[in-house]
Amino acid sequence: MPHSDSVPPVKFAYWVPNVSGGLVVSTIEQRTDWSLDYNIELAQTAERAGFEYALSQIRFTAGYGAEYQHESVSFSQALLHSTTKLKVLAAILPGPWSPAVVAKQIATIDHISGGRIGINVVSGWFKDEFIAIGEPWLEHDERYRRSNEFIQALKGIWTQDDFTFKGDFYRFNHYTLSPKPVQQPHPEIFQGGSSRAARDNAASVSDWYFTNGNTPENLKKQIDDIQAKARANGHRVRIGVNAFVIARDTEEQARQVLKDIIEHAHVDAVHAFGAAAKQAGQASPEGEGNWATSGFEDLVQYNDGFRTNLIGTPQQIAERIVALKRIGVDLVLAGFLHFIEEVEYFGREVLPRVRQLEAEQAVAADVAAAHVA
Ligand SMILES: Cc1cc2nc3c(=O)[nH]c(=O)nc-3n(C[C@H](O)[C@H](O)[C@H](O)COP(=O)(O)O)c2cc1C
Repeated sequence: MPHSDSVPPVKFAYWVPNVSGGLVVSTIEQRTDWSLDYNIELAQTAERAGFEYALSQIRFTAGYGAEYQHESVSFSQALLHSTTKLKVLAAILPGPWSPAVVAKQIATIDHISGGRIGINVVSGWFKDEFIAIGEPWLEHDERYRRSNEFIQALKGIWTQDDFTFKGDFYRFNHYTLSPKPVQQPHPEIFQGGSSRAARDNAASVSDWYFTNGNTPENLKKQIDDIQAKARANGHRVRIGVNAFVIARDTEEQARQVLKDIIEHAHVDAVHAFGAAAKQAGQASPEGEGNWATSGFEDLVQYNDGFRTNLIGTPQQIAERIVALKRIGVDLVLAGFLHFIEEVEYFGREVLPRVRQLEAEQAVAADVAAAHVA
């Protein structure tokens, strides 16, 4: 069944640049900064521009550049203090974090922020990072089995008193968290990847599935697979897709920016990232994980964001976003070259066109429904 045009408006999130080096592994100028001051201005610009979510990143070590990295939970909290509407998603890596600590931390931040914190549970892809911080490195599907228990435990702690859980990774005995979070039933839990294990987790426990950039055809395959399983599980999951947005007044200008980014790719860093990421992508038993098929140009944007092709004029981009919505995408996670100025341009030029197209399609759907009746 196609995604109905009467579903809620597509939502927008942006990547918080809380690690250095911008969102592309390229020596091209990126007017983007990982400092708190820059990020506060960006968050305030984004909420004015119509972005609903901001997604922070968690890195314990550099992997592809990203030499400096601010920690995700504390950085998210700082952004919440400086905004009023934006929901901020803190990236959480099971292993270093236990569900007991996360449940407590996030419940507190939920109170402080008036119910605006969420989390993105990342299952880990970077072996050297785990080795560096002395965390055991589990094989691919075990990492997801742990994330599944992690999410079950969080939901239990956040929603139940006297919570008991006997898993292979986590154990709780008659635990009651007080106070519970403000958001009901609990702060939103995002989780993602591309592999079968990532999709299966989404179809059973996550509120949201995040995935790397991809073509509409490949995204549709993933979404159909997840939603069929979610229906069988009696579970509801929504879908967020990464895209590196290059919106310019003309298509030629936008394509030229992409060309420049790739021409200035930091070749050694892209190869180093590619080696680590490919190992992660192909490590899933079925070989469908993130980056399993990514080429050099894809890897210059470290979550395959060029593949989604939100590159062109505001009208072209708006049309492609509405096309993504029709295959079941609920949220576009956007990265930009020059964050503040491009977030502002996106809010002014792209977002109203998306809303216009959504309104036109809703009217068309109503007319069609009236004919059938
Ligand atoms: C939108 C998005 C954001 C992610 N953020 C992080 C992050 O901040 N830190 C991290 O270590 N991994 C992050 N990941 C990586 C995933 O958690 C996962 O390890 C990776 O996608 C490999 O998954 P797969 O092998 O199941 O496809 C992110 C992935 C996606 C799609």
